[in-house]
Amino acid sequence: MSPFLLTRTLPEDATDAALRADVLHGLGHLPKTLPPKWFYDALGSELFEKITELPEYYPTRAEREILLARAGEIAAASGARTLVELGSGSSDKTRHLLDAMADLHTYVPVDVSESALTQAGHALIAERPGLNVHALIADFTGGLTLPGTPGPRLVAFLGGTIGNLLPAERATFLASVRALLSPGDALLLGTDLVKDESVLVKAYDDAAGVTAEFNKNVLSVVDRELGADFDPAAFEHVALWDAEHEWIEMRLRSRIEQTVKIPALDLAVHFAQGEELRTEISAKFREDGVRGELAAAGFGLTHWWTDTEGRFALSLSKAA
Ligand code: SAH
Ligand code: TRP
Repeated sequence: MSPFLLTRTLPEDATDAALRADVLHGLGHLPKTLPPKWFYDALGSELFEKITELPEYYPTRAEREILLARAGEIAAASGARTLVELGSGSSDKTRHLLDAMADLHTYVPVDVSESALTQAGHALIAERPGLNVHALIADFTGGLTLPGTPGPRLVAFLGGTIGNLLPAERATFLASVRALLSPGDALLLGTDLVKDESVLVKAYDDAAGVTAEFNKNVLSVVDRELGADFDPAAFEHVALWDAEHEWIEMRLRSRIEQTVKIPALDLAVHFAQGEELRTEISAKFREDGVRGELAAAGFGLTHWWTDTEGRFALSLSKAA
């Protein structure tokens, strides 16, 4: 096996067809929505990396602290020879885990962002000549097939990205991850925790405006891919805490009354002044809830670790 393989499990035009279907459905129904995976074109992936360095965006630093402290325990408890990482992005924090996994045979980063995968993959094989990297361009919410590399397997899902799925989507997603694994394989899950509202809102509405730019980038993706004429400046970034659902909701609020044309869909979308488009949720968790959702999907939680300030949790579970 060559040290770096990049496999596209989606044909290139599947992305296009999926974007069309999502935009048609999301902008054709009220309230208007757009699913989050379309944030991550090359610019979106770069903007997300900038978010991880913002003073207000604590999740990346908190999760890195836990990984640094617990990588050895995670490696020992899982005994993994294959590490699969869903939504791997830059794979930056993952390096702490890779450092500790002496028996690792293959690392399988999975992401919809080809640019993030290629950059991360090439950097990793340069740093670690012995490691096999088999990158997959794939949607982690839709029927993944893993390469036939040796077990045991550890699936890592970091960054609190699971919080970007709605509760029903999370249940389906966790069950599909469980179906990829054999008994004794493990799941390492990063979950951001419920905390003070002002801390949460600032993490998604930073003073420098990077998150606003990231949120609006989804409009530029629709402009480029479907020939739409969204003017990102005509929308305002909104982040608010939904206390009932315990999630942050990201929206784009139309500053004016406007009609946006989407030629590829033969669609004109009307926005009233002040009308909001929901782009993303980021759910925050509690230990009991995580344990319960994992159990419902066939995982038994064995470890729960938080950073010293108790902001973020990493849990390790075994496939039952
Ligand atoms: N794990 C990294 C990146 C988190 S950002 C970290 O913790 O910092 C979320 C990542 O998931 C992005 O790289 C994005 O491209 C990817 N992603 C989002 N939705 C996805 C989907 N449906 N399938 C695969 N990857 C997805
Ligand atoms: N998984 C990240 C999170 O929920 C993604 C993210 C961070 C994000 N900031 C964002 C998504 C702003 C949309 C807008 O924290």
